[in-house]
Amino acid sequence: MLEFAVEVAREAGMFLKRSVGGIRAIETKEGQETNLVTEIDKKSEAMIIGAVRRRYPHHGFLGEETGSTTPTADTIWIIDPLDGTTNFTHGLPIFCVSIGIQEKGGLVAGVVYDPNRDEMFTAQRGRGSYLNGKKIRVSEREKLIKSLLVTGFPYNVRENPLNAVEHFGAFLKESQAVRRLGSAALDFAYVAAGRFDGFWEVALHPWDMAAGLLLVEEAGGKVTDFRGFPTTVMGKSIVATNGRIHEQMISILKKNLA
Ligand code: IPD
Ligand code: CA
Ligand code: CA
Repeated sequence: MLEFAVEVAREAGMFLKRSVGGIRAIETKEGQETNLVTEIDKKSEAMIIGAVRRRYPHHGFLGEETGSTTPTADTIWIIDPLDGTTNFTHGLPIFCVSIGIQEKGGLVAGVVYDPNRDEMFTAQRGRGSYLNGKKIRVSEREKLIKSLLVTGFPYNVRENPLNAVEHFGAFLKESQAVRRLGSAALDFAYVAAGRFDGFWEVALHPWDMAAGLLLVEEAGGKVTDFRGFPTTVMGKSIVATNGRIHEQMISILKKNLA
C-alpha cells in the first residue's frame, strides 16, 4: 500500500507542479474569503481517489474536497490533494500532496510529496521515516532558545478565539526564530527530517495531519495536543517536536491557552 501511495502522490504532485500558473477558477469555501480552493485541488483529489479505488475497491476515503466515503471500511485513505493552496495560487513553490493510511482507526503509513524539490517523505508504523529512501531522524536540539520553529494560522484566524497570534509572539521571543511556510504537511515532514525542531498549530484537519503525524513519530519525535496529552488526526491543536523541546513548548502554550 505504501508503494502505491508513493506512486499516486508522485503523479498528483507532478500534476500540481505542471498546473502552477494555469489556474482558471479560484473559489472560496466555508464562507471565508481567504479559504481558497481551485479546480486543481479537486482534480488532484479525483486522480488520487480514482487510482486507489481501482486498486483497492473496498477501501474508504477521507478527502479534503470530497469528504468521507465508506467510513466503516477497515482501511481509510486520508488525503490532502494540495496542501498549501494559498501558496499555489500565488505561484509560491511551497506545497505538497499528503496521504495518510489508517487501518482500524490507527495510522499505518503516510506519504508527503513535494514536487518542487522532488522530495518524497514516507513513514510506516514501526519501520521509521524516510526521505527519498534514506532514513530520517528528528533533530537533537535541547534548548528552545536554539530551536527553529514553524507554525501556521487557520483561515478563521480573524475570528478564532484560540490565541494563535499570542502563541506566535511568545515563541518569537523564546526561540531562535519562527517560520510560517503555509503547508502543514511540509511543516510536519520538516520536523521529521530535523529541519525544524518544533511545529505547533491550532485548528488543523485530519488531512493536514495524517501523514505528518506518523512521519514525526516514526522519526523519533513527539506529537501531542497543547496540554501535552496524546492526540490523533481528529485532534485539532497539535505540537510536534523532536521530543527534547516538547515540554518547553507546552509550558509556553499553557500560559497562553484561550
Ligand atoms: C492549510 C495549510 C496551512 C495551514 C492551514 C491549512 P490547505 O491547508 O496547511 O499551512 O496553516 O491551517 O488549512 O488549505 O492549503 O490545504
Ligand atoms: Ca491542508
Ligand atoms: Ca488542501
